[in-house]
Amino acid sequence: MSNNSETLHVDLGARAYPIRIGAGVLADANRLLEPHISGGRIAIITDETVADLHLKALLTGLGADDIKVIILPPGEGTKSFAVLQDVLDTLLKINFSRDDTLIALGGGVIGDLTGFVAAILKRGCRFVQIPTTLLAQVDSSVGGKTAINTPAGKNLVGSFYQPKCVLIGTDVLATLDARQMRAGYAEVLKYALINDPAFFDWLEENAGDLLAGDQAALRKAILTSCTAKADIVKRDERERGERALLNLGHSFAHALEAKAGYDGTLLHGEAVSAGMLMAFEYAQGLGLCPGQDVQRLRAHLHKLGMPTLSDLPAPLTHDPEQLFAYMGQDKKNTKTHMKLILTHGIGKAFIEPKADQTSLLNYLQKACNP
Ligand code: GLY
Repeated sequence: MSNNSETLHVDLGARAYPIRIGAGVLADANRLLEPHISGGRIAIITDETVADLHLKALLTGLGADDIKVIILPPGEGTKSFAVLQDVLDTLLKINFSRDDTLIALGGGVIGDLTGFVAAILKRGCRFVQIPTTLLAQVDSSVGGKTAINTPAGKNLVGSFYQPKCVLIGTDVLATLDARQMRAGYAEVLKYALINDPAFFDWLEENAGDLLAGDQAALRKAILTSCTAKADIVKRDERERGERALLNLGHSFAHALEAKAGYDGTLLHGEAVSAGMLMAFEYAQGLGLCPGQDVQRLRAHLHKLGMPTLSDLPAPLTHDPEQLFAYMGQDKKNTKTHMKLILTHGIGKAFIEPKADQTSLLNYLQKACNP
């Protein structure tokens, strides 16, 4: 790991863990993971795409020769009961124990599935996250949300289960294409929009370099994002309150993703990009958010080529009533009320526990038919 590395801690008492951020974590994996592995066996779970790019470097960095490797198909379809069962069967066949360690090497799909396997295998074994996409590095690998999908919806079966350590290699992002980088950037931007207007100022200056792979800009953005997430998670690990802020734009995004059918045509980060601007526009319509902040966000997204609602394919936006219905199915809602993350401006997000459904439907109808 390079000297320009940083460590931050997710302070969760007995479940506390470090996040190591820098270039070269794969090559240095043995030293970095040694305190968290306790001498047990290791199994790596990854997907075909990531295995081609990074598995050899990780195996070399770990330097052990009895490592079990499980390589899964890439894509959201891997977060299924069928794959979960296969992975559990494979690990049980080799008598994988609670003191052994699972390593999730990949993006959000691999991290979410591996974390859930770790949570339920023999009632819980050790696991480590090595996220390889920007989106996983700044969001899904931190905070202990694990899940698979079911026919009823995304992430509906899962648990809160924290890793022992997260290793974030800024250099592994060099293999991501521009579209994946922009999708991950949406989650970086989210932290600025929630409560950090100074970070938004910095992103306005530096996001171009970050998206072009500048290592210093990436390190600063990932560190700021993970610090913001760790701060919220340590106060509200199980999303009883403020952790819901991390879903800014996500109720709109999940509706767009449901409409797209999770077929890979709309990336989660693309939906979040559009969804965050929708949350700002809707809040503006309610008189809560100044128009100049909405315009500043819109200009930032356009400058970087980040999608907004009007950039999405027509089949996703032609039926606002259906988007509204999907928003009604969000996990954050209670039986009687729709919870939305709204905003008073850049860096001023808040939780609205009882969103007004009539004005929301009106907004969606206007936004989808500009
Ligand atoms: N991705 C939102 C959260 O971890 O709470």
